[in-house]
Amino acid sequence: MTKKIGITEVVLRDGNQSLLSTRLKLEDILPIASKLDEVGYSSIESWGGAIFDSCVRYLNEDPWERLRQLKDAMPKTKQQMLLRGQNLVGYKHYSDEIVSKFIEKAVANGIDIFRIFDALNDLRNIKHSVQEVKKNGKHAQGTIAFTISPVHTLENWVNLAKEIQDMDCDSLCIKDMSGILSPEYAFELVSALKRAISIPIHLHTHATTGMSNLTNMKAIEAGVDNIDTSISSMSMGYGHSATETMLYLMKEKKIDVDIDLNELLTISEYFKKVREKYIEFEGSMKGVDLQMLVNQVPGGMLSNLETQLKGLGKEELLGEVVSEIYQVRKDLGFVPLVTPASQIIGAQALSNIVNEKYETLSVEIIDLVLGYYGKLPGNVDPKLIKKATENKEIISNRPADLLTDRFEDFKNNLREFCKKLEIDDLSSIEEHVLTFILIPYGSEQIFKKSAS
Ligand code: CO
Repeated sequence: MTKKIGITEVVLRDGNQSLLSTRLKLEDILPIASKLDEVGYSSIESWGGAIFDSCVRYLNEDPWERLRQLKDAMPKTKQQMLLRGQNLVGYKHYSDEIVSKFIEKAVANGIDIFRIFDALNDLRNIKHSVQEVKKNGKHAQGTIAFTISPVHTLENWVNLAKEIQDMDCDSLCIKDMSGILSPEYAFELVSALKRAISIPIHLHTHATTGMSNLTNMKAIEAGVDNIDTSISSMSMGYGHSATETMLYLMKEKKIDVDIDLNELLTISEYFKKVREKYIEFEGSMKGVDLQMLVNQVPGGMLSNLETQLKGLGKEELLGEVVSEIYQVRKDLGFVPLVTPASQIIGAQALSNIVNEKYETLSVEIIDLVLGYYGKLPGNVDPKLIKKATENKEIISNRPADLLTDRFEDFKNNLREFCKKLEIDDLSSIEEHVLTFILIPYGSEQIFKKSAS
């Protein structure tokens, strides 16, 4: 008797984010929502930082209204979001009070499962979010952001997982955002975690390097409890293994998944047609991309760099910048290359090659070096610390301990603002205040729209 494996469908968040630059509109989801709700997924990932941002900046949708409508259209299935710990759905740290308010409102509007991570794996940055999710009676999933480096050993991952369990998380996620978790290492890692902790383990991996189907299967063999997949017509590439493929592979192994493959065909057909509308947002990658395994740099970061270098008329420097990224990452204690560290490191590497090495340091890199994003995984180059401390002091406490922003102050500001815009309907004012805090520029059209 084999155990059941849960399937989280990610097409509405990460699938759409990885393949269509997060441009999928609510109007293209709603017609298929009731079908998705019938499938029997353990959860549907539908909300997160990129969705929040894209709703406000590009789609002219109120992200909260989108969430409410998704929840209404899929009442049976648990809605899941990706939360950047103390950064919420933004790029900087927010005060505990604002984190609490955000989680309270995310719960009230429909989120059931919160996958919470910190880019540096500094668990002090997820602790408050975990506590607040638990306080609101919802599922808190603690996350390890997977990376490969000399300081990220199996023992290190196991210790992080134990701390996450001790934090009272309901489950653990291995988040392999670049698709670099190999099948063999996945087997080793999941086996070690299974011996060390008792909460369910979820695997989130990407198809980028072409290993995801095998990696998922080896993780299942080692006892993983849940995998993330995306409907076939919106899968692979920078995205994820196809839901149907994984189901087929599991059925062959006599693993019970409780989902009918035929049911998924209609959904896949639907998204195949929808995808055609978004062709202008498709990335240029075809097949697989091994850059991350060979150069230790994510493909998305490379294409950005290429564009930047082209702008400077210095395309020939790409190779040098790529090796410099590795050096800068090493000097910063092997920080995982995820948002926001990937952008900060990419920019510094570029500056190091175009100018003198570390001649100029960006505000962000100074903050990263001095602990304002959290504790870095390994040792930081002393010369870099010396240079960074010329203007600012190093900190060792939790970054958010320095923040005292009060929600009420923002709320009063927004009330004034709405008065000026002659918006009288303030029924969603608390949600609007959060949108305003997280995306200060460009959110006013959202308030006007929802008030009309
Ligand atoms: Co992902």
